[in-house]
Amino acid sequence: MFFKSLREDIKAAKANDPAARNSFEVLLTYSGVHALSWHRVAHFFYKIKLKLIARILSQTARFFTGVEIHPAAKIEAGVFIDHGSGVVIGETAEVHKGTVIYQGVTLGGTGKEHGKRHPTIMENVTLSAGAKVLGGFTVGKGAKIGAGAVVLKEVPPYATVVGVPGRIVRIRTPETEDPVKSGMTAALALSHEAKEQLAKELASEAEAKRNEKK
Ligand SMILES: CC(C)(COP(=O)(O)OP(=O)(O)OC[C@H]1O[C@@H](n2cnc3c(N)ncnc32)[C@H](O)[C@@H]1OP(=O)(O)O)[C@@H](O)C(=O)NCCC(=O)NCCS
Repeated sequence: MFFKSLREDIKAAKANDPAARNSFEVLLTYSGVHALSWHRVAHFFYKIKLKLIARILSQTARFFTGVEIHPAAKIEAGVFIDHGSGVVIGETAEVHKGTVIYQGVTLGGTGKEHGKRHPTIMENVTLSAGAKVLGGFTVGKGAKIGAGAVVLKEVPPYATVVGVPGRIVRIRTPETEDPVKSGMTAALALSHEAKEQLAKELASEAEAKRNEKK
């Protein structure tokens, strides 16, 4: 199981990093691959309730790789963490295969939630350098989160989200790459956001009027 996952991780590194020359070099020198292997061992100890050992392993991994993954986090085989440094993955986060995580990414909580408070990242998502994804929502498969974005709510599949707070700038349709269909899907997503914003403004206007009458 451990070695099968390691093989998948090395494959993901080679698929996503044009600089990766061969499996042996990736195995020896890629700190993201090392971090995931440490995590698999820590996660095993966490599952058999040896939580202190699990935490010690995850902190040791952080020291060597610059990647901090809570031992309870669920990470599938075939994820690629590029460069490593400054990546933080929280306790209730889930990351599915094919996802690429660049340096400085945080999969964290907002500090206001309990229970499931870290995001679920579906297959083949790109989390660009410095992106912060905060909260217990889902980032749909194939989504791209831009460098430095701060994402605070659900992201639909194949959407590109940039900025602070994160906003959808594009939704691709990977099956067809049909620009018309893609444009319409993006327009629908944006009109949904506009509707949400209008509803919020109307609610706060009504609240202000109620307060005036009092
Ligand atoms: C988001 C990203 C993945 C590109 O996605 P894309 O779907 O190809 O989007 P585009 O490049 O067409 O950009 C769409 C719009 O978002 C804007 N945009 C793109 N990336 C942005 C970012 N990080 N922050 C703010 N705006 C951004 C573009 O200017 C463009 O705006 P416009 O439509 O007004 O011209 C890419 O821009 C990005 O952030 N890459 C970083 C990758 C990385 O971390 N590399 C580190 C390697 S060490």
